[in-house]
Amino acid sequence: MRRQLHLNLFIHGRGHHESAWRHPAATPLAMTDLAYYQDLARRAEDACFDAIFFADHLVLLPSEIAHAVQGGLEPLTLLAALATGTRRIGLVATASTSYTEPFNLARQFASLDHISHGRVGWNIVTTWLAAASRNFGRDAPPGLEERYAQAEDFLAVVTKLWDSWARDAVLDDRARGRFARPDRVRRFDHHGPFYQVSGPLNVPRGPQGRPVLVQAGSSGTGKRFAARHAEVIFTAHLEQGAAIAFRQEIRALAAGLGRDPEGVVILPGISAAIGGTEREAQRIWDELNESAAPEVGLERLSARFGGHDFSHLPLDRALSVDDFPPPAGVQAARSRAEVITDLVARERPTLRALLHRLAAARGHYTMAGTPEQVADVIEAWFRSGAADGFNVMPPILPAQFEAFTSEVVPLLRRRGLFREAYDSETLRGHLGLPEPANQFFGAEAEVLV
Ligand SMILES: Cc1cc2nc3c(=O)[nH]c(=O)nc-3n(C[C@H](O)[C@H](O)[C@H](O)COP(=O)(O)O)c2cc1C
Repeated sequence: MRRQLHLNLFIHGRGHHESAWRHPAATPLAMTDLAYYQDLARRAEDACFDAIFFADHLVLLPSEIAHAVQGGLEPLTLLAALATGTRRIGLVATASTSYTEPFNLARQFASLDHISHGRVGWNIVTTWLAAASRNFGRDAPPGLEERYAQAEDFLAVVTKLWDSWARDAVLDDRARGRFARPDRVRRFDHHGPFYQVSGPLNVPRGPQGRPVLVQAGSSGTGKRFAARHAEVIFTAHLEQGAAIAFRQEIRALAAGLGRDPEGVVILPGISAAIGGTEREAQRIWDELNESAAPEVGLERLSARFGGHDFSHLPLDRALSVDDFPPPAGVQAARSRAEVITDLVARERPTLRALLHRLAAARGHYTMAGTPEQVADVIEAWFRSGAADGFNVMPPILPAQFEAFTSEVVPLLRRRGLFREAYDSETLRGHLGLPEPANQFFGAEAEVLV
């Protein structure tokens, strides 16, 4: 079958730019208004996107209170609400392996898979923001290696819980008084380094078998975790070459583990300002940058580097990598710290220019252009092996998503790169991913008649 793009709408605030919330073209609705998210989900579904996606951070930074819109809705609750008003679009939410229990999360995602009739995905993150630990009874966050070790054990438990019901376990036989077959529901008694969990789950197997496993950490440890488990990878690259190298590395790592590399869908972010001319598109970034608050940018930059203080640096002198701690030792957002220091080494921006770049899309690829130029970049990345599709990150919502769906998507279709209509019902189906085998009950082919 012809290879086609996978497109995911990353919904973030009133748009991905840090100051989008103030822009006149941004939604007038509150971040707590379900109608805002329903509108975006329907737009994405009308455009036949694979999925919509919500990130999640378990802390509010002080500067964000005054200067940024961060108070949205809790993602899993939101997915449940959105599942009822949509029919086809995939629904992906972030949840942390560092600050919840695997039983809770397995149960929530299994429930969402039923509620949505097989359309959910879990973006597995370990939570890089150090301050989150203080919301969960810990003075200091675990280091990056420990977080991933915990994530490994967490995932082992969650997949066991999802597999603890065979597809044919439920009889619901009122006449004979048999609800489920005890031999098809498994207690497994997991004893791992972090978790002791007996099982089984108290929710029957969902329509997708397991929700789609999405992963979004790209450090060395993150890549190895992704190669073992991820079915979709969200990642951030400022350069096509870096994205090609990343995808090649992941595919090689996955193949080395006996996985089919086609079963790993890699989606870098793209934040495109779209205008009638390149200059008009660039004006969108300029307007947004003018109203960005440097204190938000500085605090977020500091947080990504695990609390390093950049506030003494002048805003208008060219930066050098010596102004940054070495990313290899960063315990917070390590891979993003690498993206940022690579950018500094390459371009020597001033701090003000760097903060503008990061205000736009936090280290994801950004561009300004006409719909043709945006489609050209997408096609070039896709054909060169930099991406299997994209996390679409409109700078302003919904205005710039409207521009993407009405002007860029038709071009991608004309080039044969994107679907005209859905041909499947589930998120796995949209992504072309098989249902993973059940580790306790073998191939799930047998269905009771
Ligand atoms: C598109 C995308 C979305 C992400 N969303 C979140 C999120 O919501 N919460 C979070 O803690 N980390 C999120 N991350 C992952 C962090 O960037 C990552 O875990 C962090 O950088 C530390 O891990 P790493 O160094 O392995 O990348 C996201 C990453 C990407 C590419």
